[in-house]
Amino acid sequence: MTATNIDTQDRFEFGKNWSDFLSKVDEKRIGLATESLAQKIGHQALKNKKILDIGSGSGLFSLAAHRLGADVISIDFDINCVECTKTLKKEFANNPPNWKILQGSVLDKNLMESLGTFDGVYSWGVLHHTGNLADALENASQRVKPDGWFFISIYNDQGTPSRIWLKIKQFYNKLPQPIRPVYVCIVAAYQELKLVMKRLITLQNPLPKNDEIKSRGMSIWYDWVDWIGGLPFEVAKPEDIIQPLRDKGFLLDRLETVGSGWGCNEYVFHLDTAKEQLGLEKSNVKELG
Ligand SMILES: C[S@@+](CC[C@H](N)C(=O)[O-])C[C@H]1O[C@@H](n2cnc3c(N)ncnc32)[C@H](O)[C@@H]1O
Repeated sequence: MTATNIDTQDRFEFGKNWSDFLSKVDEKRIGLATESLAQKIGHQALKNKKILDIGSGSGLFSLAAHRLGADVISIDFDINCVECTKTLKKEFANNPPNWKILQGSVLDKNLMESLGTFDGVYSWGVLHHTGNLADALENASQRVKPDGWFFISIYNDQGTPSRIWLKIKQFYNKLPQPIRPVYVCIVAAYQELKLVMKRLITLQNPLPKNDEIKSRGMSIWYDWVDWIGGLPFEVAKPEDIIQPLRDKGFLLDRLETVGSGWGCNEYVFHLDTAKEQLGLEKSNVKELG
């Protein structure tokens, strides 16, 4: 694991970005988020199950888990994210009693222990933004019940390009607020152009693929803002995540890796009661294009 930034002075305002995104949430996006969650975890792993969503952000995936029949606890460090999640709970789920929302940090060991254990722990794009990925991974994984699942997505360690991304993010957070959208446009346009060129060279359709499920119901713009601004920022190679969890009895069910590219590797583990160490089956690894 590479701690590329643990200076919490430079913290990106995730909650502000998610508050801006909230007006875009509609039944179509909720449907896509729900479908993507069901596809990745499976209906059975959610229906009537106790789920913890760590770093709930906008609250969209807590809502998706609720729609799929789970009892949900959502937790986020940022008060604006907590408010976003409460808004979705009220507006799209009618404030059900089996969905609780808390403000708190995954790094707060006592708080995390007080939550108990869960059939499933979901933490998409969060643990690398805490300032301490190793402790966050430890605290989050400890909330999984035996035989429960653990679904995380963590930024890929690309070496030098990851360090360049850190500089890009630090620069974003130092810019005056009104300039930031312009900076996002420039960085995003440059990256999109590089992708178009890559697709052209490899004789693929140069236009971006419209994979709605893969987009998880999120918005390209707010995802770019989150990606370009998101600090603290740490990255990890798959083995940095898999091995410490394997030592605790977690088996990897699925890994969607970005290979040597940028973005997040997505992992689904389960806590194996027999503590069998099966090793990673090649068939469980899917490289994203
Ligand atoms: C990139 S967003 C991901 C949001 C959501 N999980 C999703 O998939 O859309 C990262 C989230 O992690 C939250 N976060 C950052 N540090 C945290 C911490 N120490 N404890 C809990 N949440 C944290 C941020 O406030 C933010 O909502």
